[in-house]
Amino acid sequence: MTHPIDIKKHGAEGVVEISGELPSPNAVRSANESLTMDSPSPAARPGLLERLLKWQNGSVEAEEIAARILNLPLEFDGFRIAMVSDIHLKSQFLLADEVATHLSRAKPDLITILGDAIDGSTPSVDPLKEFIRFIASLAPCAAILGNNEYASAYLPNLRAAYRDAGIALLEDQSARITRGGAVMRLVGLQDPWAYVSHLNVSREPGMPNTEPIRPAAEPNRFDVLMIHRPHRASRYGRQGYALSLAGHAHGGQWRLPWGQGIFSPGQGLFPKLTSGLYSLGDGQLVVSRGLGNHEFPIRIHNRPHLPIVRLIRR
Ligand SMILES: [Fe+2]
Repeated sequence: MTHPIDIKKHGAEGVVEISGELPSPNAVRSANESLTMDSPSPAARPGLLERLLKWQNGSVEAEEIAARILNLPLEFDGFRIAMVSDIHLKSQFLLADEVATHLSRAKPDLITILGDAIDGSTPSVDPLKEFIRFIASLAPCAAILGNNEYASAYLPNLRAAYRDAGIALLEDQSARITRGGAVMRLVGLQDPWAYVSHLNVSREPGMPNTEPIRPAAEPNRFDVLMIHRPHRASRYGRQGYALSLAGHAHGGQWRLPWGQGIFSPGQGLFPKLTSGLYSLGDGQLVVSRGLGNHEFPIRIHNRPHLPIVRLIRR
């Protein structure tokens, strides 16, 4: 299957093909555990709460979300976009094999990486490399950076890993995906943290005259925005984006049983934009709850999240 797009403009010579299976740290850990848990005492058996927390933190919810786009070009009706966000890599990415399996089965047309794959506590980018090479072999991939990545000493390594995997890292840049005579313009914004902290960004992302957000009249084209922070999406809604994709909120860290998040950086207590689909003017916003944790080590009612957005013409 070919992908008639040009988003791998920043990539290396091509996508690295992975013929084997991803390493399975969970399998290794299970094997080790079996050596020490042959005869657990009743007191050592995990209780219901422990099992519930393990399930809520150690299993991925792959959620298909329908986004109805006004006047979506017919060529993109049914186009599917996977959202990988907020891995916050530690010494291992324990969910790598499960995420890879979900993506292999879902067969998205595009995979987006929405920032904070690493953070200030990440000791090495190496555990992420095989994963990103693998997902880049499944579909075209485009990435943006999150606030935590600008402060990481390993950001150059992450940039190199994306480049080597053929993943387009969009930093106030755009790329185009074409199907027949129709075009999806994919815009990736830098995070304002890079500007505020004087980290190689000379102006606030998304300000007027930022080239990628400048609207341009072009028939049979629609625009999709990749932005790390969902609460900043509304300021770009007037630019005519049909769809915005974001992460960062981690679902509100802990969620009440009916789905209300507790806290999100930038949105504070009881944040509004934490998970799933929202209306944004004439466009739509989809927010991933992310796959990893940062300052809150445990998720409650908030499983790691892998949205697969299906575009539907309306
Ligand atoms: Fe973030």
